[in-house]
Amino acid sequence: MKNFKDQIAFITGGASGAGFGQAQVFGREGAKIVIADVRAEAIAQALVKLKAEGIAAHGIRLDITDRAAYAAAADEVERVYGGPPTLLFNTAGVNSFGPLENATYGDFDWLLGVNLGGVVNGMVTFVPRMIAARRPAHVVTTASVGAFLPSNIAAPYSAAKAAVVSLMEAYRLALAKYDIGVSVLCPANIKSNIAEATRTRDARFGATGFVDNEQSIASLHSIYRHGMEPVELAGHVKRAVEENQLYIIPYPETQPQLRQHFDAIVAAVLPMEADPEGAAKRVKALQDWIAGEAKVFMPPPPAGAATDKR
Ligand SMILES: NC(=O)c1ccc[n+]([C@@H]2O[C@H](COP(=O)([O-])OP(=O)(O)OC[C@H]3O[C@@H](n4cnc5c(N)ncnc54)[C@H](O)[C@@H]3O)[C@@H](O)[C@H]2O)c1
Repeated sequence: MKNFKDQIAFITGGASGAGFGQAQVFGREGAKIVIADVRAEAIAQALVKLKAEGIAAHGIRLDITDRAAYAAAADEVERVYGGPPTLLFNTAGVNSFGPLENATYGDFDWLLGVNLGGVVNGMVTFVPRMIAARRPAHVVTTASVGAFLPSNIAAPYSAAKAAVVSLMEAYRLALAKYDIGVSVLCPANIKSNIAEATRTRDARFGATGFVDNEQSIASLHSIYRHGMEPVELAGHVKRAVEENQLYIIPYPETQPQLRQHFDAIVAAVLPMEADPEGAAKRVKALQDWIAGEAKVFMPPPPAGAATDKR
């Protein structure tokens, strides 16, 4: 997608940080913006700023873990802008840090629920509507470079983000035939309000085993205030959507650690000489299956597939 004018951009977490940067950058290109966020007051403030720039913007208070509310939000977008999103940004996310061995079920339920479950809800809600609309479209989901780098204090978050990377890799394969591109953004440090994420944690998740107090929040702010500006990050996202890139990782400082991580994985694979006959047999079985039986699981695109070229 090269032209963003009159595209319909639905941005979760759009009231703050990376999501608000996306609203500004794509709004300035002429996209019609929906910011969906759990914090009503932050939505109101964000809308004032966007509208002051002449950006068409609509706000929806949405907790992305609430599936019924998500469906209602999708209906609202269609009512307001006349169709489903052609740009879906699954950007909302929350973080919390503490010793993994102290994590409660509530910590896992909240961190997996928002960071993974919220993305699942976005895809299951919108993908069928986007396919049915038969318009070229693009999905950008925000994971994290933490998806690839283990941390003993951010494990539920990193696990959710790793799952999100895997999901987007698969959705990219699944949606190409509908002319829907998919990208996954893996930021390192962003200048945002994520240090305060625990303030949005719902009481239903009960007690945390992680560290959450004024001191820990202040400590996190001391990192994030040196992060990349959200508008700069969103500029990288815009270029990646224009080029239909899968991975968006505009942080050069992460390359050595990522290389080390993936080199270690590749180095763990036995060389071909270790089992040439077994490998050949398994590869042939898989190839035969893909050429034959696997078609059962991969029906041809339905009549609703997009025909326009992006
Ligand atoms: N800040 C960083 O350094 C960093 C690094 C890597 C990845 N990320 C990811 O970037 C994304 C954006 O975060 P940010 O750093 O801009 O933080 P942010 O806190 O400034 O913005 C996140 C927004 O998501 C909203 N939100 C939280 N829970 C929600 C829910 N259940 N439903 C709807 N909205 C909800 C918040 O109200 C907030 O406005 C997240 O997915 C985060 O995990 C951030």
